[in-house]
Amino acid sequence: GPASPSAETSHGALDVLVEGLRRLEYRGYDSAGVAVVADGAIGHRKKAGKLANLEEELRRDPLPASATGIGHTRWATHGGPTDLNAHPHVVDGGRLAVIHNGIIENFAELKQELAEKGHAFTSETDTEVAAALLAETYNDLGDQDLVAAVQATARRLEGAFTILAVHVDHPGRVVAARRNSPLVLGLGEGENFLGSDVSGFIDHTRRAVELGQDQVVSITAEGYEITDFEGRPAEGKPFEVLWDAAAAEKGGFPSFMEKEINEQPMAVEQTLMGRTDPEGNLVLDELKIDESVLRAVDKIVVVACGTAAYAGQVARYAIEHWCRIPTEVELAHEFRYRDPIVDERTLVVALSQSGETMDTLMAVRHAQEQGAKVVAICNTNGSTIPREADAALYTHAGPEIAVASTKAFLAQITAAYLLGLYLAQLRGNKYKDEIAGILAELEAMPAKIQAVIDTQDQVKSLAQQMKDAASVLFLGRHVGYPVALEGALKLKEIAYIHAEGFAAGELKHGPIALIEEGQPVFVIVPSPRGRDSLHAKVVSNIQEIRARGAVTIVIAEEGDEAVADYANHVFRVPQAPTLLQPLLATVPLQIFACELATAKGYDVDQPRNLAKSVTVE
Ligand code: F6R
Repeated sequence: GPASPSAETSHGALDVLVEGLRRLEYRGYDSAGVAVVADGAIGHRKKAGKLANLEEELRRDPLPASATGIGHTRWATHGGPTDLNAHPHVVDGGRLAVIHNGIIENFAELKQELAEKGHAFTSETDTEVAAALLAETYNDLGDQDLVAAVQATARRLEGAFTILAVHVDHPGRVVAARRNSPLVLGLGEGENFLGSDVSGFIDHTRRAVELGQDQVVSITAEGYEITDFEGRPAEGKPFEVLWDAAAAEKGGFPSFMEKEINEQPMAVEQTLMGRTDPEGNLVLDELKIDESVLRAVDKIVVVACGTAAYAGQVARYAIEHWCRIPTEVELAHEFRYRDPIVDERTLVVALSQSGETMDTLMAVRHAQEQGAKVVAICNTNGSTIPREADAALYTHAGPEIAVASTKAFLAQITAAYLLGLYLAQLRGNKYKDEIAGILAELEAMPAKIQAVIDTQDQVKSLAQQMKDAASVLFLGRHVGYPVALEGALKLKEIAYIHAEGFAAGELKHGPIALIEEGQPVFVIVPSPRGRDSLHAKVVSNIQEIRARGAVTIVIAEEGDEAVADYANHVFRVPQAPTLLQPLLATVPLQIFACELATAKGYDVDQPRNLAKSVTVE
């Protein structure tokens, strides 16, 4: 789960916590919980569902007044959204409470180790494992040093985490550790705060300190101390929060869409996390379908709508290439009503960010009625589609608030790659080394996506210049084709501009008639290092449209000099294997649409006529 403020305050920790959680609720609202240290004990309450449920519980069954506490709103990753899986997790006979954001990759090993030592677990979360490990470590150290215990625990955890702990032995203290997951410290007068972002404490102070990677911080009302995981003194990065409360929820970005575009390196990274065993094999333990069934699959059908369906198109290229299983992609609403041929040997893959899209759900039910097994790739834990599917593979993009999908798209593609590689591994289509090689390329993608984001000013300035364009076309080939479709959809959805994506090879079969002087055309260029001379063919397309007056905006790999002569504008993306290029080439198109819509004065987060999840057929 993503949100975890903590407070030490003279005006009562509970009020501060609940208010902070309200500001952080946009990060997830599967459950909420608080713990306070009072009268030598830890009191805690936690409830599944929105914060209002927790507030109701607190009214029904109040907690004692206290100056120190921690609180959490959850966006479920491991373990469904239930009361038991909610944070805080209170362990060691009620002496220690822990909240956590992120994904602890080695939690299964740790859980086994702790179970052997006699720890009993009441939830399915990785968080409770971290809490038990911290309790064990604290008690083993024997000198009542909570900070040292948190440091030692953090050293044993792999993956992404922000962990906050309170202990009955230390009533005025909160200790936290972070790796790959955000944590900020707020500095008040006689009170200090921790939050996963500044919106958790913006009502109390604007003086903040950003914690660095692999740091531990201990706060009391009077002060704070930062160390690394080894216990050596360390420093955070002080800053002044200049935003108002509303902007703070968007992390200082003008819109959720822009924030979510910028979160894409993290979304992809988290989706990849925890999917390999120590021997380097891909493990998808969530994929609870018999291996014999998966081995016998003779056809895959991907069903989805909108952006998710474009992710499905990318998935098809990868799955067919890696697994040699015939794969179809179909809009869920078309699939359902055309009497599709599916049976026990068909694997249906349903892609859905929300997990609630009615069209996709109906396709899932129809496929199951015909005997097919369904794997859902979803971003929302506990939603209907993954619940009804035979197995669910979750993307860990974090909640997507903006209506137009961005980070969920990249995460869906990433999860689909993992599914494809897993099937290839299981069915022996690829050698272990080949799979390891592709996984290593995938793991390099978050940094490359960041490199694309780092060049966004160039894209934005073009978007501003083009704000009065009447129509924009997008061309792509192979996996660049769905990227072109997605680029066009983004522009339609939020900028209300006529936009269309075409397969570049289709141009001469009709669409080229649309090209006239000044017509902007985006072209997604495949890697020149790829096979089958696709690159040369797309470069010819650029020449053809340029000769007819098009303004060509080219997305091409770094080092691809062949495009320069025919491009009015070039946006560079880092080199990557062709099949993975959509994770990079999509990003400038998202930025372009977002900036252009903003320049036109539209609300990009809530475009007209649309809703975030479409729960009617
Ligand atoms: C586009 C967009 C929609 C959704 C589609 C499916 O930006 O958001 O096209 O992709 O409605 O939604 P999910 O993935 O929730 O099933």
